[in-house]
Amino acid sequence: MVNSLVIGASRGLGLQLSKVLHANGHRVFATIRSSQNHNMPAGVSTIPGIDIGREDAGARIVQGLEGEKLDLVIINAGVFKKETLEAPNFEDEMDMYKVVAIAPVFLAHHLWKANSLSSPSKFVLITTEGGSIGLRTKEEGGGNYGHHGSKAAANMVGKLLANDFYDKGVTVMMIHPGFMKTDMTKGVGFDQFYESGGAVEPEEAAQSTVEFISKITHEMTGTFWAPRGPRDIGEAERVMGKNLPTPLRLPW
Ligand SMILES: NC(=O)c1ccc[n+]([C@@H]2O[C@H](COP(=O)([O-])OP(=O)(O)OC[C@H]3O[C@@H](n4cnc5c(N)ncnc54)[C@H](OP(=O)(O)O)[C@@H]3O)[C@@H](O)[C@H]2O)c1
Repeated sequence: MVNSLVIGASRGLGLQLSKVLHANGHRVFATIRSSQNHNMPAGVSTIPGIDIGREDAGARIVQGLEGEKLDLVIINAGVFKKETLEAPNFEDEMDMYKVVAIAPVFLAHHLWKANSLSSPSKFVLITTEGGSIGLRTKEEGGGNYGHHGSKAAANMVGKLLANDFYDKGVTVMMIHPGFMKTDMTKGVGFDQFYESGGAVEPEEAAQSTVEFISKITHEMTGTFWAPRGPRDIGEAERVMGKNLPTPLRLPW
């Protein structure tokens, strides 16, 4: 049986990834910050009390695995707090960088040191096209420094992990899952763009993400992809041209 771990699985994409992997016959470990989650399907092994903004999260996850080795790890947890040049927020930025860009290093460290990663295995960071420097344009504008900056940093972390893990048989991939109708996007007022931006339910994005992950090869390690293609990436055509393929490899 394939053993998979989803980190940040209480709601949104993480919950749906856990459900899809479980439905596909994986043994799923799913971490949540709270003590329980009633939406998780029976059969998924929930690891409660995991706040990845804390340094001990990786060690606590290893305990929750009870000696099982993983074929797939998906770090899904994310934070998006809106910012402008007029009102940047120091605490919000610290929170975003900690969860999105710093935590993956420590999670990878603990899982690797505890010998919890199989060889071969896959290690996926859910980042976002918002973390692509190449896809940021004058027309789109600035702002959201902490969100976009932390996701760009996460892409860098993933690339470096890919180099460290190459000979260990761990394939690392950064994925933009698509524009989704979740608490995250609603929380920053992006629900006004759901229609025009082609947002999908997280169930749909979880399906395409899992399907894409199943096709990743070790030669692709350390790259950044949009499994759903350019359809919901606002600046894709302006930057990359027309008739772009799906899945789409994204620029850093
Ligand atoms: N929604 C989109 O359109 C979109 C687009 C591109 C990329 N993404 C990425 O996709 C991922 C999932 O997004 P979503 O839309 O499903 O977001 P969401 O509905 O806001 O869910 C965020 C998840 O992250 C968890 N989380 C946040 N901080 C955490 C922490 N310190 N420790 C552990 N877990 C933590 C949350 O747990 P709690 O319930 O405990 O808060 C929740 O499970 C994120 O990485 C996001 O950046 C989303």
